Amino acid sequence: MTSPQQAASAPYGGAGPVRKITPRRLQEMRQAGEKIVMLTAYDATFAGLAAQAGVDMVLVGDSLGMVSQGRDSTVPVTLDEMAYHTASVARGLAAAGGGPLLLADLPFGSYHGSHEEAMRSCTQLMQAGAQMVKLEGGGWTAPLVRYLVERGVPVCAHLGLTPQTVAALSGYRVQGRDEASAELLMRHSCELAEAGATLLVLEMVPAALSTRITQAMPSCHTIGIGAGAGTAGQVLVMHDMLGASLGKTPRFVKNFMAEAGGVRAAFEAYVREVREQRFPDEAVHAW
Ligand code: KIV
Repeated sequence: MTSPQQAASAPYGGAGPVRKITPRRLQEMRQAGEKIVMLTAYDATFAGLAAQAGVDMVLVGDSLGMVSQGRDSTVPVTLDEMAYHTASVARGLAAAGGGPLLLADLPFGSYHGSHEEAMRSCTQLMQAGAQMVKLEGGGWTAPLVRYLVERGVPVCAHLGLTPQTVAALSGYRVQGRDEASAELLMRHSCELAEAGATLLVLEMVPAALSTRITQAMPSCHTIGIGAGAGTAGQVLVMHDMLGASLGKTPRFVKNFMAEAGGVRAAFEAYVREVREQRFPDEAVHAW
């Protein structure tokens, strides 16, 4: 077996030159109309494979609570657990040449108190290797985003279906379907962009709405998951796109493993299809 550290000293066949992704590079991609490709990973090996496949951003999502720990929500995931997985992913990315930008989720409860407490949580994740942090929710989060950005923390916000508050949303359902909730989502998105968020994940939002939000925010880049093809980029949970889920797979997911010869080929197919705007296919994967 080859560890990511050993692989670092071996040539990575066919990966091409490493393209280092920074917030500035994301802006350039946006201006050039190049889609941003994000994928979750929770350990060194899969993160290294994602880097080799040309993924732009690796998200250490608190979805690890569900796909790795077997919990029924993301709520029990702790900051220490997130830092542990972030450090593993950081080692895998470094071994693969360090191309993708590493984004880590602030787990439930780690940013809901004082701004100082949230800053301490960001510090722990960034010391573990995160280059950007993600937090869920709109409205109350905008002043927090501004506070963190002013202190040098790049922030990705997350609106629409926010898994940490799935109980309050009455389950995994599409958000922003009616006019009032669509306008609220639009307002929260603009406030977060104004506060300095670099990215905005939109989860389970109608395609027309996420396209409208994307067009309203030229310097905050939308990353969709179940939000149609009009966003600046796409993200999927790795286990879902590999067809490795125990439960029912959401409609917005495509199984990229079905026609691939291995994990890296599946990741490469995902990168290719997002870049060529073949995934998501709105007739199949959107609402
Ligand atoms: O935790 C996670 O994996 C996420 C994605 C669903 C965007 O937040």
